[in-house]
Amino acid sequence: VMKPVVILGVFVADTAYRADRQPRMGETLLGNSFKLGPGGKGSNQAVAAGKLGADITFLTRLGVDAFADMAKHTWEAASVKSAVIDTPDSYTGAAYIFVEEGTGNNAIIVSPGAAMLISPADIEAHAGLIRSAGVFVTQLEQPIDAALKALEIARAAGVTTILNPAPAATLPDSIYALCDYVTPNESEAEGLTGITVASVDDARRAADRLLAKGVGAVIVTLGEKGALLHSKGRSDHVGAVNAGPVVETTGAGDAFNGGLAAALAKGVEPLEAVRFACAVAGISVTRPGTAPSMPTLQEVEALLARA
Ligand code: RIB
Ligand code: NA
Repeated sequence: VMKPVVILGVFVADTAYRADRQPRMGETLLGNSFKLGPGGKGSNQAVAAGKLGADITFLTRLGVDAFADMAKHTWEAASVKSAVIDTPDSYTGAAYIFVEEGTGNNAIIVSPGAAMLISPADIEAHAGLIRSAGVFVTQLEQPIDAALKALEIARAAGVTTILNPAPAATLPDSIYALCDYVTPNESEAEGLTGITVASVDDARRAADRLLAKGVGAVIVTLGEKGALLHSKGRSDHVGAVNAGPVVETTGAGDAFNGGLAAALAKGVEPLEAVRFACAVAGISVTRPGTAPSMPTLQEVEALLARA
């Protein structure tokens, strides 16, 4: 049985600049290349889930402009259904992405535009969609009060809830108990708990803090160290799944969260779902871009079969 996935979040156009370093204030630097493509954490997660065969609907606001068209084409190609609130008085946002030549590491400025106007009232207007999900996912690029309202509706309907607390933000304490899964990366885990996460043991300590706040299970994504799945009385470290040389790590967290949602919606056990999500992320980092780097189910299954 495959249950529907609903993701609330943001689409933006990713404008990715590869350069040897970032410019200093007042400096103009020649880059090595530029690429425009679809991005935004929630949309990337939806694209990942769609390419993996999930029944996925993405809820957001868009402007009425060229980047909105890019969003719609992107979702269509990845079999993502959408519930879009058109917002002609705002704009579809964009992200400045600096990609460091050589390492593939990134630094980002994201301006979500219309998606910053997603309100609790918008969420209430789509309560039926959220209740119809088997798995609900959101992040923190749109306003937190909207995420909170959606998690409340999902939780009350018995929907499995995943909060990807990205980008890092201060959260109201009431949000934690609404989450079956919270999925920070190392720096987000540190931001939420004050514990510096440099090792798997650090991740365990940080995860314990989040469990104490009422989260069902914590998944700390650890980059090349894989991920930690941590719940009361059980803690499993899953190694990263290597799919080849790293080209660009931007969007790896989104690949992971989209993969996790798709697997859980299929009824896959949490530990197996985390391993699957690590493989999805592992493939995504071997390719440039965010949404365009998401793998198909066949690609993930082939990687796991030989890993
Ligand atoms: O997680 C990666 C995403 O974060 C990028 O696609 C960029 O749009 C930023 O929002
Ligand atoms: Na990538």
